[in-house]
Amino acid sequence: MSEKKRILSGMRPTGPLHLGHYFGVIANWINLQDEYDCYFFVADWHALTSEYADSSRIKGFVPGLVQDWLAAGIDPEKCVVFQQSMIKEHAELFLILSMVTPLGWLERNPTWKEQREQLTNKDIHTHGFLGYPVLQAADILMYLPDAVPVGKDQLPHLELNREIARRFNHIFGRDFFPEPKDLLTEEAKLPGLDGRKMSKSYGNAIGLSEDMDTIVPKVRGMLTDENRKRKADPGDPSICNLFPYHKLMTDPARLPEIEAGCRDASWGCVDCKKLLLESLEKFLAPIQERRKSLDEDTLADILNEGNKKARAYAQDTMQQVREIIGFDF
Ligand code: TRP
Repeated sequence: MSEKKRILSGMRPTGPLHLGHYFGVIANWINLQDEYDCYFFVADWHALTSEYADSSRIKGFVPGLVQDWLAAGIDPEKCVVFQQSMIKEHAELFLILSMVTPLGWLERNPTWKEQREQLTNKDIHTHGFLGYPVLQAADILMYLPDAVPVGKDQLPHLELNREIARRFNHIFGRDFFPEPKDLLTEEAKLPGLDGRKMSKSYGNAIGLSEDMDTIVPKVRGMLTDENRKRKADPGDPSICNLFPYHKLMTDPARLPEIEAGCRDASWGCVDCKKLLLESLEKFLAPIQERRKSLDEDTLADILNEGNKKARAYAQDTMQQVREIIGFDF
């Protein structure tokens, strides 16, 4: 067994990744992969909780998501990359944890309340959707991790996960499941093209696999400092929507020049966008290059390999869980 601490995290396969995912989640995973024993998985059953009425697209999104992760820099030599629904033990643990989870905990879950109000185009008044955090607890506890790297939006789920672990341990009188900490991803540093949170559904995203022909008009149309009506007006990078992009993707040595140029109006927004396009092209090129080398067979091999490792771990955990609850028939 390795000495490293173990972490686990997952993502729902709902479409191609964009820069918001990269800087919000994936960059964090990449940073953690040397220090920790990492388990990263595609939460396809979780996608089903909201997409059950039209589930046909999930299948294509699964290898697509793995391809995006690996292209972005997740290294399958260092991390176990796997698919939730291929490890049936998750369903068994979900069922067992369901038995001990009080309904009130789920009904009070803020994510559930919020999503029921917001996802009005989908009928999510289902047992499965209410149980989303229990399935998530099964995903997590299966691998007895030390921590879970997530964004702030997942904190209520993680708190529930710890409560479920505590309750299981209490009911069965064994200190078996850990109470994993959160490894909080910093707030998304990259806003969408229009300044709101970057999201495919807002139409304000740049995809990791988009080509420059698609990206150029998007960047040209980006909002900058709204108070800067003409090039001769001085601007303020601290309220400009473009500047965070430079901070993440442009050579840091050039930032003072951009900032000063904006403030004294010697740089126009057009110059700024031109430079950003160069930076974007440089940033995306290696990702897109790696993506090309990841064909269907390679991805299938990597996923099979990861599934095997995850399954072995899950089988071991479940054997112990069955013993603990007296179901070791
Ligand atoms: N709920 C997470 C999300 O929407 C995805 C997820 C499922 C997950 N199971 C998990 C994240 C376990 C971390 C750990 O992003």
